[in-house]
Amino acid sequence: MFSVKSLAVTACVAAALTVAGMALAQNVSTGVYSPAQVARGADLYAAQCARCHGASMEGLDVAPPLTGGTFLSHWTGQPLAALATRVRTTMPIDKPGTLGQAASADLVASILDANGYPAGKADLPPGNAALGAMTLDAPK
Ligand code: HEC
Repeated sequence: MFSVKSLAVTACVAAALTVAGMALAQNVSTGVYSPAQVARGADLYAAQCARCHGASMEGLDVAPPLTGGTFLSHWTGQPLAALATRVRTTMPIDKPGTLGQAASADLVASILDANGYPAGKADLPPGNAALGAMTLDAPK
């Protein structure tokens, strides 16, 4: 038999589970980077990436586009940490391993912005622990 007290406890547990669930997997389309971070990422991109991937991430020669359907098909459904790690450990392709965690997060923010994901209020946090909890969903 339900008492008012047990209903209240059930509601609290359900609310806590919901909050924990959101912390475990946050979709990128909810807004996970800040506009200021995109500006930093765009500066890095212009200096270190544009000569190969194009000024607007459209792709040039053998360097693929970093926007659009083919690019998104490689990363959709994956944790954002996968994309950040790809950038940090393999790019720029002629100087891999030279970007830090913060620079990689800033670059990922500018890539998300170019792909139409919305900005939020806070920076995308650097590091795989935080980025592993964010999933690249389809852009809305
Ligand atoms: C010297 C040329 C060059 C530079 C500079 C360069 N890239 Fe690349 N990038 C490539 C090539 C070529 C590929 C495809 C081959 C491969 O997968 O390694 C690639 C692949 C990628 C991919 C995977 C694309 C996909 O479809 O999954 C990402 C992400 C990426 N680059 C990001 C960057 C970022 C960010 C920078 C700047 C920090 C950068 N690249 C600088 C040449 C370059």
